Amino acid sequence: MQNTLAIIKPDGVQRSLIGGVITRLEKNHLSIIAMKMVYMTKTQAEGFYAVHRQRPFFESLTNFMSSGPCVVMVLEGENVIARYRELMGATNYEEAAEGTIRREFATDIEKNVVHGSDAPETAAFEIGYFFNRFEIVS
Ligand code: CMP
Repeated sequence: MQNTLAIIKPDGVQRSLIGGVITRLEKNHLSIIAMKMVYMTKTQAEGFYAVHRQRPFFESLTNFMSSGPCVVMVLEGENVIARYRELMGATNYEEAAEGTIRREFATDIEKNVVHGSDAPETAAFEIGYFFNRFEIVS
């Protein structure tokens, strides 16, 4: 069993895509074992995306991620990190495969509706960033 962090980003929340994304998760048997809405400050968004601090898009990304509420979730399942990443599709929605969340819903490389952890170590950091163990139902 593996866990991963999933985020419905501010563009997804604002565009009423929470239900559409969660339906995809459930149809693909990705179990939600924790969920809440958060409205990050700029500093909190910078902490979450600290690995991207040197990237040219860091400033814009952290402004975007602190521009409105997000839905954060912990998903559980076998190989869930890779399975959820496959369901999300490529970061750039124009390169995302047909049938993926980003292909269907995203409008922009930055405003790409969803986020998912990319490795077990990242997932541990990202889950701990938003949830304590009493908020996760396994
Ligand atoms: P995410 O999977 O959350 O990981 C980092 C985020 O940075 C990514 O989704 C996009 O929102 C954003 N991002 C990645 N690459 C670019 C880029 N080339 N230009 C703008 N934003 C990007």
